[in-house]
Amino acid sequence: MALTTTVGMLRRAQEGRYAVGAFNVENMEMAQAIIAAAEELRAPVILQTTPSTVKYASTALYLANVAALAREASVPVAMHLDHGSSYELCVSALRAGYTSVMIDGSKLPLEENIAFTRRVAEMCAAVGVPVEGEIGRVGGKEDDLEDEGGYTIPEEAVRFEKESGLFSMAVGVGTAHGFYKVAPVLNKELITTLRGMLTAPMVLHGASGLSDDDVRDCIARGICKVNFATELRAAYTKAVREVLADEAVIDPKAYGKAGREAVKELVKSRMLVCGCDGKA
Ligand code: 13P
Ligand code: ZN
Repeated sequence: MALTTTVGMLRRAQEGRYAVGAFNVENMEMAQAIIAAAEELRAPVILQTTPSTVKYASTALYLANVAALAREASVPVAMHLDHGSSYELCVSALRAGYTSVMIDGSKLPLEENIAFTRRVAEMCAAVGVPVEGEIGRVGGKEDDLEDEGGYTIPEEAVRFEKESGLFSMAVGVGTAHGFYKVAPVLNKELITTLRGMLTAPMVLHGASGLSDDDVRDCIARGICKVNFATELRAAYTKAVREVLADEAVIDPKAYGKAGREAVKELVKSRMLVCGCDGKA
């Protein structure tokens, strides 16, 4: 199948009260693992790359990998720019063929976040690509991103939805990027409140290290896209390290395969928590 946008898959998830898993990829093996997991579980899936990832290679290179895998897949696959940090990076993603874009203006004052998001949303609308905006902040550190976090203010979220042209909205409800050093203080009631006030599909960032019950509860309250990154990188690297402990190993395929298997199993378990299995 050709890559699809996130519109249909997230609208269906919103109606069906489940979430689509969005998984960050760093290399070809991780992309293979995520799409293989989606195929096995018959799940729609979103693969995404952060700014530091596309700086490591390029939007074109990641897109080419994922599009080639999607073409052979029988489940819907979307390619999303995660935490887009500039207008130019969003242009690069569109030119490469990404089918979904996030522009993260969450550190800006509300007015500026609206204007920044709207500028990107207008450009993306011209080519039929949906935009994820962020309001309130996801704490912690991931790649080059670091923030102390902050909860979304419902009235601001309503204005953000009306004025920015976004399709989906990342909300700050107490999660953070990276593994948790202290237990997160989730405001789940805030998700329920936001769900009642917004029509945009809501996105939960920072899912690595949350308990399965917490993720399920957030979904039951209205989250319909859940982002997983750190734990995939950790699983991949751990499996590779185990193989490389044997110094006789010199074939990159030997450890790539081990990393790929570990990521596939992890992604399958997260898809089951999201309830997106069987929804393709
Ligand atoms: P984690 O790295 O905490 O899983 O967060 C993922 C994320 O929000 C990617 O945007
Ligand atoms: Zn994130």
